[in-house]
Amino acid sequence: MKSLKKIVALTGAGISAESGISTFRDSGGLWEQYDVMEVASIDGWHKNPQLVQRFYNDRRKQLGEVEPNEAHRIFAELEKNFDVTIVTQNVDNLHERAGSTKIVHLHGELTKVRSTIDPNLIIDVGYRTIEWGEKAPDGSQLRPHIVWFGEAVPLIETAAAIVAEADILLIIGTSLNVYPAAGLVGYAKRNVPIYLIDPNEVAYKGSNLTIIREKATIGMNQLKKLLWNLN
Ligand code: OAD
Repeated sequence: MKSLKKIVALTGAGISAESGISTFRDSGGLWEQYDVMEVASIDGWHKNPQLVQRFYNDRRKQLGEVEPNEAHRIFAELEKNFDVTIVTQNVDNLHERAGSTKIVHLHGELTKVRSTIDPNLIIDVGYRTIEWGEKAPDGSQLRPHIVWFGEAVPLIETAAAIVAEADILLIIGTSLNVYPAAGLVGYAKRNVPIYLIDPNEVAYKGSNLTIIREKATIGMNQLKKLLWNLN
């Protein structure tokens, strides 16, 4: 049996936009409504943890009210013909709900919280609100299982090794503004075909790059046809 080609996809907020989740940096995006350093940094958490807790409670509740879109579903469908791994900056669970099986959440997961003293004590909370004062089993305050600005990205080396194995690299719905995630593209082997889907211009130039200037659902439909030819 011939082995399946490896697709690695770097996805960001744009892939979930058509599900009704705001991106961060577009006009009307979350960072226009909130100060990123107040709600998504380790300093912000130390300064006003209740505000941060509320911000993630709201995000988690909203996630329970939205559905994966066709772009997420096409990813799951691609697993029939390719070995697909998704390295996402998204903290939503729409890729898994659409049926994708190999997902690395670089920036954490909204449906999980963890101990503030033991990073390995992680608890699945689904879409529910975490009350201030709610404790982990070790007695510490619970915090969102999110990688904040000012914190290390524990899965970055795992992700870099995955990108280095890719036969085809996809970049979808990320402005490539946030490092180290944005630097992952640099780990791809030379001459690997790269497809970038985004309705707006993204500051990335590489060899073997095909840009599909569309929203994720339309772009993924177009890409699916192109990928069938590569299979
Ligand atoms: P951004 O908000 O920076 O970028 C979203 C990208 O999606 C932009 O390039 C948009 O043009 C594009 N976009 C908008 N609508 C789209 C659609 N329908 N289909 C496809 N693309 C669309 O989001 P990220 O790059 O994901 O981190 O942001 C990276 C990180 O910054 C996030 O993980 C988050 C944030 O601060 C943390 O909070 C730690």
